[in-house]
Amino acid sequence: MTRRVVCLPGDGIGPEVAAEAVRVLSALPIEVELEQHLLGGAAIDAVGDPLPPDTLAACREADAVLLGAVGGAKWDGGGPRPEAGLIDLRKALDVYANLRPAVGDGIDLLIVRELVGGLYYGARGTREDGTVFDTCEYTPDQVERVARRAFELARRRSGRLLSVDKANVLETSRLWRRVTTGLATDYPDVELRHGLVDSVAMQLVTDPGSFDVLVTENTFGDILSDIAAAVTGGLGLASSASLGDANPGIFEPVHGSAPDIAGTGAANPTAMLRSVALLLDHGLGEPALARSLEAAVAAALEAAPTPDLGGTATTSELGSAVLDALAQGVAA
Ligand code: NAD
Ligand code: IPM
Ligand code: MN
Repeated sequence: MTRRVVCLPGDGIGPEVAAEAVRVLSALPIEVELEQHLLGGAAIDAVGDPLPPDTLAACREADAVLLGAVGGAKWDGGGPRPEAGLIDLRKALDVYANLRPAVGDGIDLLIVRELVGGLYYGARGTREDGTVFDTCEYTPDQVERVARRAFELARRRSGRLLSVDKANVLETSRLWRRVTTGLATDYPDVELRHGLVDSVAMQLVTDPGSFDVLVTENTFGDILSDIAAAVTGGLGLASSASLGDANPGIFEPVHGSAPDIAGTGAANPTAMLRSVALLLDHGLGEPALARSLEAAVAAALEAAPTPDLGGTATTSELGSAVLDALAQGVAA
């Protein structure tokens, strides 16, 4: 059975790391039909729209979507923004649960970030007096579905779930806490705790090894996942899976288009290749291949580290090392 993967390379280092993902996917022993489409700044330049209709249509038809990164100073001028393409794509595919694992020395945690609600999608505007506002809104159902996903993931890991909010200040956080607390009776095997986002951020820096599964709203999850990436070796390593119920998932690194290193060959493709592993696992139902790829990436990181890890390998040299490790059946 041939599976369809839509690849959206995007901008900056997006196409550079996506090229390695395509090489690796093509080398794996599965039939994958890969289609590339425009998203973000590249799509604005080509057709004036960060999420062109044919890109969205292709994503809807796919088994999984693989995304590089979007954005860059070139599109800061007040016209359409590349990031809007990604935000609209997530909403269109209703990928409400964004799984952001962070694994490193003594650290193995998973942030479950709500992805299609909150500040990113609430009412916004400018009043006559010049006040500008963004609104954080959540319905109970929006909280419930992502929290259930997190409880189920926690059940399959250590049985501990930390819900992160700002319930000492925000109404949406008090809703978040009520809903998650109410669900706990459905998951008696999971120990639910609550934490305030500021102190959780601090503990992620001082004691990251103490965490297992965290669930939180969109903006908090965006920020906490960059911290979790930093304490496990940097953004070059951090992958994610954006999942819904019926539509294909989007598999995307946590990092952005890294304009400061784009075009230099210094981009670490690991975040993207680990996102391919998540795609194999959650998107195509190929967990054994996902484990092989993860092991090959781990071996390649030893053999050919990129500059962000203190090495000298280029993006494609690390990609080649992954292909070598796969060929040698590192994980077979
Ligand atoms: P960034 O994540 O692009 O870069 C932050 C720092 O991390 C930079 O120093 C960069 O060089 C480094 N870095 C990131 N990925 C790396 C990799 N694979 N290998 C080595 N180093 C890496 O964040 P930013 O600079 O704040 O944002 C740049 C643009 O990316 C902005 O337009 C932003 O909106 C966009 N962005 C897009 C996504 C996405 O498409 N999913 C995510 C985050 C940011
Ligand atoms: C991420 C990015 C995006 C987000 C931006 C580019 C819209 O920072 O995936 O973490 O904030 O969700
Ligand atoms: Mn982010």
